Amino acid sequence: MLDSKTIEIVKSTVPVLQTHGVAITNAFYQNLFTNHPELLNIFNHANQRQGKQPTALANAVLAAAANIDRLEEIIPVVVQIGNKHRALNVLPEHYPIVGETLLGAIKEVLGDAATDDIIDAWAKAYGVIADAFIGVEAKMYDEAANQPGGWSGFRRFVVDRKERESDVITSFYLVPEDGAPIASYEPGQYITVRVKPEGQEYEHIRHYTLSSAPGQPYYRITVKREDATDHKPAGIVSTYLHNAAHVGSIIELSAPAGVFTLDQSKETPLVLLSGGVGLTPMVSMLETVLNNHPSRKVSYVHAAINGNVHAMKDYIASLENAHPQMKSYVCYESPAPGDTCDKTGYIDLPWLQQIVDKNSDFYLCGPIPFMRAMYQALRSWDVPADSIHYEVFGPAASLEN
Ligand code: HEM
Repeated sequence: MLDSKTIEIVKSTVPVLQTHGVAITNAFYQNLFTNHPELLNIFNHANQRQGKQPTALANAVLAAAANIDRLEEIIPVVVQIGNKHRALNVLPEHYPIVGETLLGAIKEVLGDAATDDIIDAWAKAYGVIADAFIGVEAKMYDEAANQPGGWSGFRRFVVDRKERESDVITSFYLVPEDGAPIASYEPGQYITVRVKPEGQEYEHIRHYTLSSAPGQPYYRITVKREDATDHKPAGIVSTYLHNAAHVGSIIELSAPAGVFTLDQSKETPLVLLSGGVGLTPMVSMLETVLNNHPSRKVSYVHAAINGNVHAMKDYIASLENAHPQMKSYVCYESPAPGDTCDKTGYIDLPWLQQIVDKNSDFYLCGPIPFMRAMYQALRSWDVPADSIHYEVFGPAASLEN
């Protein structure tokens, strides 16, 4: 337990740290990677470059500090982040390194304003926050290792099959090299891939949502090739998977994780709303609900730029033909010659109002601008916030505004 003086100092300095939050975490990352370059094997370099990770970490530490005397209130956030940490194999011994570097960065940015009292108070608070994460994550490591087919850390898998789904999206079927069973998962969960492509100095880790229903002898991921654009370089892992990984290649995986999952206890109509490669959790949820809950009505609503980049088009059409309780709708932003779709342009509220039931549970996945537009459209239709389920790819962000 923290003493009341420490709590008071921490809470009263949250606003000033908030003002400098991003500067502090930028300094933090620079020092972290200078002093501990081995951590570049864990962190996503692209997120660092785009400044997303510094903001996410700053927000999380400050949110925790603001609630330091009632940390139980932020446990859901700790669980979501803890899932990512467990999947990345973040270990208890990493926490003191992060803590020391964070305090150093606070001193560096605040200068003389960071008195000994303030630094001491934040050191104690960080210890409490770190213990909360370490405790939650210890349970997750245990659960991951002790479930049937489970394991801790990374396990070697073999690419068993590679299937082209569109011009830019390919599915990979991954089976364990040891031939032993694999852990089950909830539809919507992801697995975490670790590879070291040729010519790269570090290992690279990415989370990919499992795109099929659980219960298969393989894990399927469905990956978009992130080509270089004017604004960002090509995706290291997606390029490796598309261009260099072949049937027989070895890829390391950590066990399935994630909190964005289908609530299978409900009988409400289900709307699965995705943009681009955001279809991956939706296909897993769709297969699951069709297999396990044939009386539940389900609408699969998908937005793509055009038919050339529309993944699993024929497969989804075949599911719709086989299951009368399912309806599929497609919206193309700018259809290519010969494309057919239900709507052109963007998915909007008037169209959604025509095709889906307001009293549904809505699951969203896609690029952040897409999800924000969908979330706000549904809220303006008075769909309750707790009927709208989503998880943002990469560092968490809010869709409210
Ligand atoms: C991701 C917070 C400690 C490594 C994250 C995220 C947050 C966060 C908010 C983003 C989650 C998301 O993607 O939704 C914290 C807090 C910590 C802490 C509050 C301390 C109390 C650590 C430690 C390590 C670590 C000790 C290991 C050295 C990572 C990595 C990611 C991550 C590698 C994924 C981000 C990326 O690569 O882009 N953490 N973290 N974190 N964290 Fe932590």
